[in-house]
Parts: sequence; C-alpha cells; structure tokens
Amino acid sequence: MSSPRLLVLFGSQTGTAEDVAERLGREARRRRLGCRVLSLDAYPVVNLINEPLVIIVCATAGQGDPPDNMKNFWRFIFRKNLPPTSLCQVDFAVLGLGDSSYVKFNFVAKKLHRRLLQLGGCALVPACLGDDQHELGPDAAIDPWLRELWVQVQERLPSPAGLSAIPPGVPLPSKFTLHFLPGAPKTEEQQAPPAGPQEPPSQLRPFLAPMVSNQRVTGTSHFQDVRLIEFDITSSGVSFAAGDVVLIQPENSASHVQQFCQLLGLDPDQNFMLQPREPDATCPARLPQPCSVRHLVGRYLDVAGVPRRSLFELLASLSPDELEREKLLEFSSAGGQEALHAYCTRPRRTVLEVLCDFPHTAAAVPPDYLLDLIPPIRPRAFSIASSLVALPGRLQVLVAVVQYRTRLKEPRRGLCSCWLASLDPGQGPVQVPLWVQPGNLTFPETADTPVVMVGPGTGVAPFRAAIQERVARGQTGNVLFFGCRQRDQDFYWEAEWQELERRGCLTLVTAFSREQQQKVYVQHRLREHGPLVWELIDQQGACFYLAGNAKSMPAEVTEALTSVFQEQGGLSGPDAASYLTRLQRTLRFQAETWA
Ligand code: 2AM
Repeated sequence: MSSPRLLVLFGSQTGTAEDVAERLGREARRRRLGCRVLSLDAYPVVNLINEPLVIIVCATAGQGDPPDNMKNFWRFIFRKNLPPTSLCQVDFAVLGLGDSSYVKFNFVAKKLHRRLLQLGGCALVPACLGDDQHELGPDAAIDPWLRELWVQVQERLPSPAGLSAIPPGVPLPSKFTLHFLPGAPKTEEQQAPPAGPQEPPSQLRPFLAPMVSNQRVTGTSHFQDVRLIEFDITSSGVSFAAGDVVLIQPENSASHVQQFCQLLGLDPDQNFMLQPREPDATCPARLPQPCSVRHLVGRYLDVAGVPRRSLFELLASLSPDELEREKLLEFSSAGGQEALHAYCTRPRRTVLEVLCDFPHTAAAVPPDYLLDLIPPIRPRAFSIASSLVALPGRLQVLVAVVQYRTRLKEPRRGLCSCWLASLDPGQGPVQVPLWVQPGNLTFPETADTPVVMVGPGTGVAPFRAAIQERVARGQTGNVLFFGCRQRDQDFYWEAEWQELERRGCLTLVTAFSREQQQKVYVQHRLREHGPLVWELIDQQGACFYLAGNAKSMPAEVTEALTSVFQEQGGLSGPDAASYLTRLQRTLRFQAETWA
C-alpha cells in the first residue's frame, strides 16, 4: 500500500460521523489508496497546510454546536489571524451529518466548508448534507456524493499501477489480529490502573466509583423509572463545578455476553493479545493486553447497539451461507437501503439480534474481524446534579431509564441507563467507571448576579447542582422554572426546593402539565412571570439557563423568552432577537440539551 496521502478526519458526537469516516477509509483501502482516519482533535491541525487531500466528516450537535472531539480544531480554524492562503495547497471535501428538524441543520459542515474556501482550500465537491430525517437516513445523500467524490479523488490520486481495486464482495484484511493464548490461566478482569493523584480520571483511566445509592424517584404510576444515583468519589481526583457533566462507561449484560459468545463460538474465558495489522496503527488504548474475550465483549464491543450498514457489508463478505449472504448483500447494496431501514434502523434491532438472524454467518466470523465488525461502546454523558460544596466527596446524577417498544417483541432498552438501574449497592459493592468533563453551562461567580433557570423534567439536574453551590456560597437571586407531569409523580427534590424557598434562597415556579385539562409548560409560566424575568435580566444583569430534552422544548422556551423581551421591554421583533443574540454572545444565555 502506498504511503497515506489521503486524510479523513472526523468530528463525531454519537459515533455516526466516525462510522462514516471509517467507511471512507475502507473505500480508500479497496482502491489501494493509503488513508489515515483520525478524530479531529487527535490530528495536529497545524499540519493541515501540508495535506494534499483531506476529507472532513462532521456532525452538528444539539443547537448547531461542533461535536466535543472537534472543539479544539474548531477554535483553531476560526482564528482571525490565519492568512487567507493557509490552505492553498489543500484539496478538501466536507461531509456533514445533521438533522433537518433542527433550525441549524448541518451548521457545522456548512460553516467549515465556507471557512476552508476562505483559507484558500480547493473544494473537490460541494459539501454533503446528510440528514437523519430522511427516511433512508444520511446515506440517501452520502451514497451519490461519495460516487462523485471518488471520481474527483482518483483524478488526483490514481490507484497504484498494476494493482486492481478489491471488489466489494471480497473482505478487506482485518485491522487487527487476535493471538489467543493457549491454556492461559483465567485472569481476573483487567482494568485500567487507577489514575495517579495528579492525573484526573479520563476515558483511558476512568475512576471506578463505588455506587452509594440507587433510588427510584418517580411515583409508581409514573410512566418512567427515573433514578437518583449517588457515587462516592472521595480521593478519586474527580473534581467538578456546577454545569459539568459526568461520563459513564456502561457495559453489556452478562446474558448478552454469553449469547454473543455462543453465537460466534467464542470462549469468554480465553485470553488474547491484540496486534494491529498495519505498521503505523495502534491498538485501542481502552483494551488491556492480554485481554479476555469476556472483557472484549462485555466492556468494549457495542453488541446492544443498532448496527450500521457496514456490519452488513462485512458480514456479507464473510458469510459461508448462500441464502444468508444473499440477504446481507441486499442490505448492504444501495438499492437495499429501504429494506435495511425497515429491518434494522426503524425497529432499533441490535447487533446481537441481527447475528441471531444470520446464525451461519455469525458462527463463521473470524475473531480477527470482531473489532472491524462492531464499534466500541460509547460512554454516556449526564449532567451532574450535586455540588461538591454542598455534598463533598459525592457525585449525584438523575437518570431516566430508557425503555420503549417498537414492533419487535422485546422492548428496547437504553444500554447505560438500564445497566445503571440494574446495579444494587445494597447487594454488595458496585463500581462504575466514570470521569468528568466541562459541560455547556457555567454559572456566575459574582455574589449579586441572579440566575433564571428553566429545567423541565431531568433538565433540572444541572440546576440542582448550581442552586446547591450558590446557596452554600450565599449567592442570592436564584429563580427556577421546573416542569413535570404531576406533583406526586415526578416532582424531583420537592422537599428540598420547599425548604430553600422557606429560607428565602430560591424562587420556584412550577408547571404541572397533567394536572388540568390543558397542558401547562415552563414556557407558559415564563410568559406569565414576564415582568419578573425582564426585570432580572435587563435591570439586574441576570444570566438565563435552559436545560433538558432537545425535541421542541428549547425552541419554545427561547421563543417565550423573546416574547417577554417584546412585551415587557417594548422591543420590536428584530430588536428582541438581537437582544437574545447579545445575551448568547456574552454567555448570559446558555443551554444544555440532550436527545
Ligand atoms: P407532558 O409529558 O405532559 O407533555 C417533563 O418531561 C415535563 O416537560 C413534562 O411535564 C412534559 O409534559 C413537559 N414537556 C413536554 N413537551 C414539552 C415542551 N415542548 N416544552 C416544555 N415542556 C414540555
């Protein structure tokens, strides 16, 4: 293979952009082109000026934000002092992943494309705008775009002479080889060594936090099981402020591990060493060496995730069974995407369930291909719901246990929330790998800056941390708008809020959506309390915060706030909009939303 001249960089929040970047890498390898695939923040961005061909795959998160793993790149590339000829040697293409139900659809990709042009780069093709809302998912836009992209790439970078492309039905070599250790003694499950005292825990060295309590906080007749979970973080090196998030690395259930090993004919107690096939590749740092199959399947491979098309492509090329191969080939072909969507994506069928449907293929998967076939389990982020000032040595989260039905018989279950809910510290010690990272919310340190916080449902979690912190520091002017269905079912921390109100430390406004005929939401209350909100923001310099489910709530609350500016401040529509923009720019309007 020639030296890598093609560079694929990705900015990924949920793993989709990474998966698409990997697909580009595979397509390059089929064309015998050397190609590196890297996370944007793992790439030294100053080297970009020397890259002949760069493809950047980037998602747009939440409200038009770049994903966490491209934030440093984003800051760098938008530096004002970069000369307009910085990238004049660089040919590039941008592939965006977004959701057209959000206002800022593919905002990151569009803005990046313009910026690379501005810096003198030459676009091989217009930016691709993948859309989650399309009934066939982002591939509907990606497939035709890629065809054109490869034409352009290969004009500049032909395949090496004498080597023909590897045809689609033939498997590419696996990225790693697994060397099983015969007769190796069964080892205890290996874990990353604990982080040293100077080193705060991270993804590579998570802190194994003892779970102290795990308590259901919703009433028995409430549709959802929501847990208040507390961890002991004494002497862990974990430190955080209100607004930060905790990342939790979940694992697969023992029964899923067993089922997977059975299907693939693997012995969970066997140990192996992992070796990359390509000389400049590295092994995933999260995996210990040697590693047991149980560790690999239980803690690394996302067998409970919904597979992507690449799984079907690889399975098709590995399948020894004619009937199964035919179906797998259909699912991996451009024409079979509707069928794949109906079979897999829409009902949220998991990798494990797919493998059960293709048992002859599953049994024939060489272990070397496991890491090509199944992506790693992603950590999940939760807003921290407690403050170290009020609860030293403790970290609390409020977790909604995700469970829903599709047309499949088994209900769908969120991997992390269901795993957490299943852990019972009353039955013996429980440890959960975690680390913390800054969130999108920061709170004012000055004693006299008031805060107006809007957090319906579990959106109240970061505000619980902020209120605890502010009250402990004697900061006044704490106003919380909280919404839930019913006072006696999902009113989190009711007694705590009442006590703070009694002490004069908190103004609480509630919206119980299902206690009367008409829905009452936090945005209705915000309008009703318009005079107070306007006075706090305009006269007293309050900061405004919003957190919670990202469907339509953030846009509706923002709209209510803008109408308060108009009604109470007498601003015109455009003036109210620029008032809001000013607040955003000066971090006096901040939001943390999640799907
Ligand atoms: P609902 O379930 O009765 O519709 C926490 O989930 C609270 O947020 C619930 O009371 C829920 O009401 C409410 N909610 C649902 N959609 C909302 C929206 N678009 N804006 C504000 N609150 C909403």
